[in-house]
Amino acid sequence: MNILVVGSGGREHAVIRSLRKNPTVETIYALPGNGGMASEATCVAIKATDLDGIVKFATENPVDYAVVTPDDPLVLGCVDRLNEVGIPCFGPKANAAIIEGSKAFAKELMARHGIPTAQYAIFTEMDKALEYLKTAPIPTVIKADGLALGKGVIIAMTREEACEAVVDMMQGAKFGKSGSTVVIEEFLEGPEVSVLAFTDGTCVKPMVSSMDHKRAGDHDTGLNTGGMGTIAPNPYYTADVAERCMKEIFLPTVNAMREEGRPFTGCLYFGLMITKDGPKVIEYNCRFGDPETQVVLPLLESDLLTIMQATTNGTLADTEVVFADKSACCVVTASKGYPLSYEKGFEITMSKEADAHTFVAGAQLKDGRLLTSGGRVLGTTAIAENLAEAIRSAYKLCDEIHFENAYRRSDIGARAMEYFSLQK
Ligand code: AMP
Ligand code: GLY
Repeated sequence: MNILVVGSGGREHAVIRSLRKNPTVETIYALPGNGGMASEATCVAIKATDLDGIVKFATENPVDYAVVTPDDPLVLGCVDRLNEVGIPCFGPKANAAIIEGSKAFAKELMARHGIPTAQYAIFTEMDKALEYLKTAPIPTVIKADGLALGKGVIIAMTREEACEAVVDMMQGAKFGKSGSTVVIEEFLEGPEVSVLAFTDGTCVKPMVSSMDHKRAGDHDTGLNTGGMGTIAPNPYYTADVAERCMKEIFLPTVNAMREEGRPFTGCLYFGLMITKDGPKVIEYNCRFGDPETQVVLPLLESDLLTIMQATTNGTLADTEVVFADKSACCVVTASKGYPLSYEKGFEITMSKEADAHTFVAGAQLKDGRLLTSGGRVLGTTAIAENLAEAIRSAYKLCDEIHFENAYRRSDIGARAMEYFSLQK
């Protein structure tokens, strides 16, 4: 069995490492992959958004199955294109990936099907958005409609900030087409939970819950990033909350997509907020989250490839999806300055033990040396019997990783640990 994985980050490295556990897997091609995964996959320098290049490679090489994980190729229709040349894929087609590709679509889908989410209004004209903001409750949340690398969301604490964000998105060039439509949303409060779920379009099997840490600095300060670390399971996601989510959010979403002629297959990511009125959807992603995947997949005890194929074949209901009853913590080591500007090209060294627990996101191999090449460089995951132990061990492993200008948050998991002190 030869598998093609589209993407290059820590998430893809985690997927590849899990796929490798299946003894029938022979070659894994990573397009483009990165130098840090070169011993586990054959990296081919074709960009994840180069659909023509991907399809050409897949037809010229013995590829039996493809796994498409990043948002942009999914939204562009990578799965549709690979299916056209007869290659089955893990991941949604473009008409379902729109659930992440357009926030306006996602909000209207939820409204049509009574799925709990923040109150909202959608604007395509700046004047109307500014008029609306004169009386909108503050704080408020402004979102660019399209994909914006996680940077298209502004939480405005004042009316001025809200107006500025709207002008910036709708008039400025920063967001391009993504910002020509904006969603203005009610500000919700409560702990956040990420739930990734496998689905074949009908059956939904949620993975273990997790918590991301999106801000660059300790105590959730500084700029929003792609994610500086994760823990799983998320203690705020209790059995009661899980049951409500399945009934009020997960199944209604998957059913809504199918009923509207956009069956979603692959991994559907639910970004949730547990408000005092119950769980509400903050965002959908059409793919595995990163770095959520780096704590979720290491806890998966069932075979990933079998599950992925079941989402493609429509047999998920008959397929085992079991997670270890343990905790995991992933600490991201980034380049100092991320998410703004940072230097690259520093040599990474780590102990064997740390290496075995680390997923590589932004690094390249040069003359046998691993050099930093991105903002988020590494994700180091430890698994333990409980969360406190997992956090301790992840940081201990990080002490064995070195490169110049390395930066990491020192409080990954602290918010989750607060849950336990609140219970006492
Ligand atoms: P998103 O890119 O949609 O995940 O948004 C990024 C972050 O902004 C989320 O993880 C939340 O912390 C925050 N956020 C998004 N929407 C809301 C909302 N309606 N109320 C409060 N916070 C929000
Ligand atoms: N960690 C959030 C995301 O993958 O979008």
